[in-house]
Amino acid sequence: MLNDTHSALICDRYSPSSLSHLQQQAGLVVRTSPLVQPSAADLKETSILLIRSRTTVDRKLLAATPKLKLVVTATSGFDHIDLVACRDRGITVTYTPLANAQAAAELALLLTLSCLRRVGDIQRTQSLGLWKDQLRSGHELRKKTVGLIGFGHVGRAFATLLHGFSCEVLAYDPYVGTEVMSELKVRKVNLTEILKSANVLSLHVPLTQETRGLIGRSNLEEMSSEVILINTSRGPVINEKELVEALRHQAIAGAGLDVFQTEPLPLDSPLRTLPNVVWTPHVGALTDEALARASLEAAGKVRQFIETGSIDDALPNCLSYPVSACLNEPLS
Ligand SMILES: NC(=O)c1ccc[n+]([C@@H]2O[C@H](COP(=O)([O-])OP(=O)(O)OC[C@H]3O[C@@H](n4cnc5c(N)ncnc54)[C@H](O)[C@@H]3O)[C@@H](O)[C@H]2O)c1
Repeated sequence: MLNDTHSALICDRYSPSSLSHLQQQAGLVVRTSPLVQPSAADLKETSILLIRSRTTVDRKLLAATPKLKLVVTATSGFDHIDLVACRDRGITVTYTPLANAQAAAELALLLTLSCLRRVGDIQRTQSLGLWKDQLRSGHELRKKTVGLIGFGHVGRAFATLLHGFSCEVLAYDPYVGTEVMSELKVRKVNLTEILKSANVLSLHVPLTQETRGLIGRSNLEEMSSEVILINTSRGPVINEKELVEALRHQAIAGAGLDVFQTEPLPLDSPLRTLPNVVWTPHVGALTDEALARASLEAAGKVRQFIETGSIDDALPNCLSYPVSACLNEPLS
């Protein structure tokens, strides 16, 4: 349990009600950092850090936080946090695994429909003052085969949405059993089968040592040239250079992307202008509802930590897949 001198620093978007929860119910002094990557001056007195995915918690940040006890990220991804460095300092880390899943799944659906209906191409021709004569017709989602790589909270929420379109849903996730998938009318397959069979392939894996670069030239070559690739997980899961090559040569039909190797997406990135790409600026969790859920859940975890000294969903031990894959260095 912490002593009475708690100082919390919020470094990104949190709902106003979570702020009052922290101040009134958890009794904390709460400051907000003007920068998503806080300054050493703001970090000096901080014992509790509340972040989202834009704040990197690495050894450099930790060196400026002598009093830090708890890091809470209001996200389901945690690849922006050096878990080994936190463990070495005895800092507890937790996240909000469920809060953003529906928002991310709905964005995956939006990107899927946008790619199938060639929205990227439509917008570009309209900005040139053309109407629809030059446009190729799009496709419907109904009855298509959709492959989900990663079948956790977002993958499951997306599968539920896809059933509304009578899709056949396949999933590749070595850490989820056939029974869990069958309950949601999803067929468990291996990587080769999902790459070959899917009309739409959507990525829902965490960024780990196993998934970094999972989709590159060789996997892209195994896919049908008609496939639409959707990524709302993390940019580095795809080798972006090799994806751009495949999109340029129409080795795949299109891509719907919310996450990128480098964020913000550089102004000279070819992904900004390729006609067969639809992209959004990492807004998978950016809905009022998800923001409210994730912020309140994060605030509740802070309160739990202060009151009991323990916490739900402490990383990395709460994970259902190998902990070692999520760490920069193996745990001893
Ligand atoms: N774009 C956004 O704003 C946004 C929003 C929410 C989540 N995300 C990202 O999406 C990812 C998935 O979210 P989630 O809530 O479903 O996470 P989750 O932890 O609930 O599910 C991840 C799934 O991936 C599986 N997995 C792990 N390693 C794998 C591998 N090598 N191959 C195949 N499957 C593997 C796990 O078994 C797990 O079932 C998050 O890690 C996060 O980075 C992004």
